[in-house]
Amino acid sequence: MSKRILSCMQPTNRLQLGNYLGALRNWVKLQDEGQGTDKNQCMYGVVDLHAITNGHDVEALANATRETAAAYIAAGVDPKRSYIFAQSSVPEHAQLNWLFGSFTQMGKLERMTQFKDKAGKNTERASLGLFAYPVLMAADILLYKATHVPVGEDQKQHLELSRDIASVFNEKYAGGKEYFPLPEPYIMGTATRVMSLRDGTQKMSKSAESDMTRINLTDDADMIAKKFKKAKTDQGNVPANEKEGEGRPEAMNLIGIYAALSDTTTEQVMTEFGGQQFLSLKTALSDLAVAKLSPITSRMSELMSDKAEIDNILKAGADKARSLAAPTLEDVMKMMGFWKA
Ligand code: TRP
Repeated sequence: MSKRILSCMQPTNRLQLGNYLGALRNWVKLQDEGQGTDKNQCMYGVVDLHAITNGHDVEALANATRETAAAYIAAGVDPKRSYIFAQSSVPEHAQLNWLFGSFTQMGKLERMTQFKDKAGKNTERASLGLFAYPVLMAADILLYKATHVPVGEDQKQHLELSRDIASVFNEKYAGGKEYFPLPEPYIMGTATRVMSLRDGTQKMSKSAESDMTRINLTDDADMIAKKFKKAKTDQGNVPANEKEGEGRPEAMNLIGIYAALSDTTTEQVMTEFGGQQFLSLKTALSDLAVAKLSPITSRMSELMSDKAEIDNILKAGADKARSLAAPTLEDVMKMMGFWKA
């Protein structure tokens, strides 16, 4: 049976290498996987409603949504085969969120580690939206009855809650029948966890303070070279095997990035560069990164120079998404007993 795959990113105009190697590249593979009736149906949302829970820049939001969609397309997501849409343009997300919120226990949300991290000590000041964020995420997924959700480690707990919400709904309102399929996490064998270039124990992040920690999808060749050259390493040479790499997160990060960009394994990279100075790995890495990323970067800026085209793609995506979302919401409201003329 064909899989329905859904994944989303928050809009930001600072997409970086980790978003590409950890997610986008795999989204493209999933879109191309399977044949005939087994072909995957992929839906890729730009979750702008999720992006406003912690204060946001009103002036920048709409363009960040466009730029994120442009990145999907530039990386190879095909808007003809996959759905690309903005969450806010499909109002059913927010409606289903409310319905799910009515039976999701606060205790379950209180256990979410991301809320604890993001809210910090002062939970009194955290927004209701930040707290309820995982419920909206469940609505994103279940609205389309997605069967598989590619996510990173940090979203696994949220996905677990989505499964829980699906089964509570099925029990409570669908008489125990599987109205919502329980979505499976889709952990891709090839997904690479890209770490900060200044601290190999921290994830590369679009929000980290220093720009030197990450390779942005908009960096030019000189900038990419400069960042890899300045990337933190240690006193030794490039490790030649797993064992030599133990406890050397910065070295292993560069090796992992090189392996991902060249579609090989870290073992192969260590065989090739082991024992050499880091400079030779860094030089090869920046050449490789420039070669792989520059077609994406230039396609992205091309797309961004014609906003009308991106807007049309997003509008068409929203129409297609709504045609799936509306019947689900209608079913749910009926099962929950709402009046309808
Ligand atoms: N919470 C996800 C993140 O921050 C984004 C997200 C929202 C998502 N809704 C989703 C991911 C649905 C997968 C499926 O990365």
